[in-house]
Amino acid sequence: MAGFLDSLAELTVVGSYSRLGFARRQPGFDPGDLDVDLCGRTIVVTGATSGLGLGTARRLASLGATVVLVGRSADKLAAAADDIAKQVKDARVQTERADLASLDDNRALADRLLQAHPAIAAVVHNAGLLTDQRQRTVDGHERTFATHVLSPYLLSHRLRAGLRRGAPSRLVWVSSGGMYSQHLDLRRCQALEGRYDGVEAYAQQKRAQVILSELFAERFTDDGVTSNAMHPGWVDTPGVVTGLPAFHRLMKPWLRDVDAGADTIVWLAASPTVQHDTGAFWLDRQRRRTEVVPGTRHSRADKEALWDLCARHTGEG
Ligand SMILES: NC(=O)c1ccc[n+]([C@@H]2O[C@H](COP(=O)([O-])OP(=O)(O)OC[C@H]3O[C@@H](n4cnc5c(N)ncnc54)[C@H](OP(=O)(O)O)[C@@H]3O)[C@@H](O)[C@H]2O)c1
Repeated sequence: MAGFLDSLAELTVVGSYSRLGFARRQPGFDPGDLDVDLCGRTIVVTGATSGLGLGTARRLASLGATVVLVGRSADKLAAAADDIAKQVKDARVQTERADLASLDDNRALADRLLQAHPAIAAVVHNAGLLTDQRQRTVDGHERTFATHVLSPYLLSHRLRAGLRRGAPSRLVWVSSGGMYSQHLDLRRCQALEGRYDGVEAYAQQKRAQVILSELFAERFTDDGVTSNAMHPGWVDTPGVVTGLPAFHRLMKPWLRDVDAGADTIVWLAASPTVQHDTGAFWLDRQRRRTEVVPGTRHSRADKEALWDLCARHTGEG
């Protein structure tokens, strides 16, 4: 019965993605799920200077992990590390500066990470943005495509040896419920041509993340690496204020706080309960379907075409 009611709430979207959805489900969470000591385990969190990434890093540090914050601004990284140090006693936090929209920055970041942390327990692919202006990266890609799709694809490959040494280890992809509206279209996902629609490009790329997560789950399984994607619901973060200002003004009373949004990210990155789950999509610690809207079912060929595209652009895989 509870599962049926939750499925109904999922269909209403607002009753699921807003703080109401989290408040209704949270009492069912097992508090023992995150009763875990991550001392000696290194977890990399991208986009950790703000919003969900910062909240995730703070919680993982409180569980004892060595957390590596990745961001593109030295000042913001220092402020984030300071924030965590103030709130978490004996926090083990390190910072790495990289513009994840640049392929070379991703490669250099991976080299530094493997040098400093030979064994990696988890990588949280969280960095993201939504913009109404098309911008090209140094490599000629559209910026949000490079950040949401090429960066996690490339980093996952380049960190594979570290994840293997850290096994059992995990990839966590922070996608969005917006992906439900899209059938992957590689042209629209790359967003390089025609009128720029930032919301559509974002949703396409979030769909691509869910597909890549499934493919990495298959391809890294022999290394002892799991891969799961999730969506955090609607969360009050600086990214929503700047990326969707009208939505933020309208929905502010109903948005989740950062701790609620980060809960399933932390759970997927750290909980023994999901140590063996892989290739799934989650909201509020429950598996969710990935294809709900008519016309959004993906064939094997659709998925492999995305992998091939990423392989061509990055030279990996
Ligand atoms: N908030 C929500 O309701 C919601 C819903 C669904 C999904 N999400 C997803 O959750 C993730 C976090 O979003 P948020 O809401 O917490 O937004 P946020 O507060 O803007 O945080 C985004 C983080 O990503 C970093 N970032 C962006 N581009 C980067 C780049 N090229 N290189 C390195 N770091 C970069 C940002 O750094 P700077 O500060 O330097 O820009 C920031 O630390 C995103 O993937 C977003 O799509 C959020």
